[in-house]
Amino acid sequence: MATHTEQLTRPAVQLRGLTRSFDGRTVLDGIDLDIPAGQFVALLGHSGSGKSTLLRAVAGLDHEVAGSGQFTAPERISVVFQDSRLLPWRRVLDNVLLGTDGVDRGRAALEEVGLKGRERAWPNELSGGEAQRAALARSLVREPELLLADEPFGALDALTRIKMHALLRELWERHRPSVLLVTHDVDEAIVLADRVLVLEEGRIGLDLAIEPPHPRSYRDPLLGEYRERLLKALGVTEDHA
Ligand SMILES: Nc1ncnc2c1ncn2[C@@H]1O[C@H](COP(=O)(O)OP(=O)(O)OP(=O)(O)O)[C@@H](O)[C@H]1O
Ligand SMILES: [Mg+2]
Repeated sequence: MATHTEQLTRPAVQLRGLTRSFDGRTVLDGIDLDIPAGQFVALLGHSGSGKSTLLRAVAGLDHEVAGSGQFTAPERISVVFQDSRLLPWRRVLDNVLLGTDGVDRGRAALEEVGLKGRERAWPNELSGGEAQRAALARSLVREPELLLADEPFGALDALTRIKMHALLRELWERHRPSVLLVTHDVDEAIVLADRVLVLEEGRIGLDLAIEPPHPRSYRDPLLGEYRERLLKALGVTEDHA
């Protein structure tokens, strides 16, 4: 068991020269990245820039990336995707527990995401937002050191998305995993993360610290400054937006 101090000083994720090509086309071109334990990082980038590829590599889901550079990641990793990936033939609680024991923890996780009382529901009886909350509960029950999320709110309506932001931030504050959140939504990145990365031509093009006090509110005037910098890094000018 690592001491508290070790947990604070040792990076949870450490990438050195991570490279990935598909059919001779380089998508990740020697990525170097350290994510300190407990940091909340958002990853932005154009469609096709390699965000999911990077996330899959860190998750250990990409076996061909091994050997290109070096990387370390924690043992306990949970991944959440754009669709909940709940198994339709299992009830909600069984989905949450999948591969773990501890019914009480499963129930507690469902309660944390506001799904108390829905333990015996079938996945197709849940709304999109509820299904994503069940997916978050499933990820929590494993007490991950690292939570990887690939556009987890991308398919939700704007109102549900804002509620999910508050929930994710609350869960993060309580459990303190490191987070790597892939998103297309610049405001979502700024509001949620301590640090925002922009992936560009296979590299981290911009590594932006969101300084405390964090603009956690969509009404924070600082949001506009961060947004401008990030949109510029993404090559989007106000004229195009
Ligand atoms: N298994 C694969 N075989 C071939 N090409 C792939 C494979 N996986 C990803 N790619 C290519 O790598 C590039 C990056 O894909 P990736 O899915 O990482 O992009 P992304 O940044 O997540 O995009 P989006 O925002 O649209 O989800 C794309 O051009 C894609 O076609
Ligand atoms: Mg993707």
